[in-house]
Amino acid sequence: MIGIFDSGVGGLTAYSELARLLPRADILYLADRKNAPYGTKEKDELISLVRRDIQRLRALGAEKILVACCTASTVCSFIPREEATGVIPIILPTARIAAARSEKIAVIATKYTVNSQEFTKQIRSLNERATVTEIEAGRLVSLVESGARDGRLDRAAEEYLDALAEKIAKTGADTLIFGCTHFTHVEGELKSRLPHISTLHPSRIGAAALASLPLVGMGRGKRIYTE
Ligand code: DGL
Repeated sequence: MIGIFDSGVGGLTAYSELARLLPRADILYLADRKNAPYGTKEKDELISLVRRDIQRLRALGAEKILVACCTASTVCSFIPREEATGVIPIILPTARIAAARSEKIAVIATKYTVNSQEFTKQIRSLNERATVTEIEAGRLVSLVESGARDGRLDRAAEEYLDALAEKIAKTGADTLIFGCTHFTHVEGELKSRLPHISTLHPSRIGAAALASLPLVGMGRGKRIYTE
């Protein structure tokens, strides 16, 4: 079985992509809504939440686990090796594609992810000529959790996205990473405001990275578990 987790609805885009790529796979999605948002947590608390998510999915039978949350992915290197086996964070596969594609990259992400500078470090370790500008957009997490979706924005979400698009345009980037999986739920809205920027989605890239691994215990069934 494959386990996927996020703090809320963000990782559902990874879940849909994985279900599309592996229609026969047994997939369990965990949304840790009780402890959301992750993007405003301190390091130690975030690490213990991520370890707990992994342990719970393992206890439910997950052999491979997709960390469908960029914030959680930033701390995966601090998880003890024996607990991290079969755990796939989504920043590295995204950084590989970004570094091969562009040298002018912008990232929108949560406060924790931006402070960690993990996207910048990983992209620049692959291409030191790349310039990476990370922009904090954590408020978009609560807007998406409270229902903002492509084609379904209230006034506050419209205004927030207008201002965010302006900041992104100012960076001069030609490639934009949706460095928080929640943001992919409003990708059409951001793309319509930034028609010349190409976009990368760690949620879908991570799902494709997991789907390309040899898998064990495949069966039928999809489940969503939330608290
Ligand atoms: N979806 C998560 C991410 O990709 C973060 C949301 C949160 O702050 O809980 O970073």
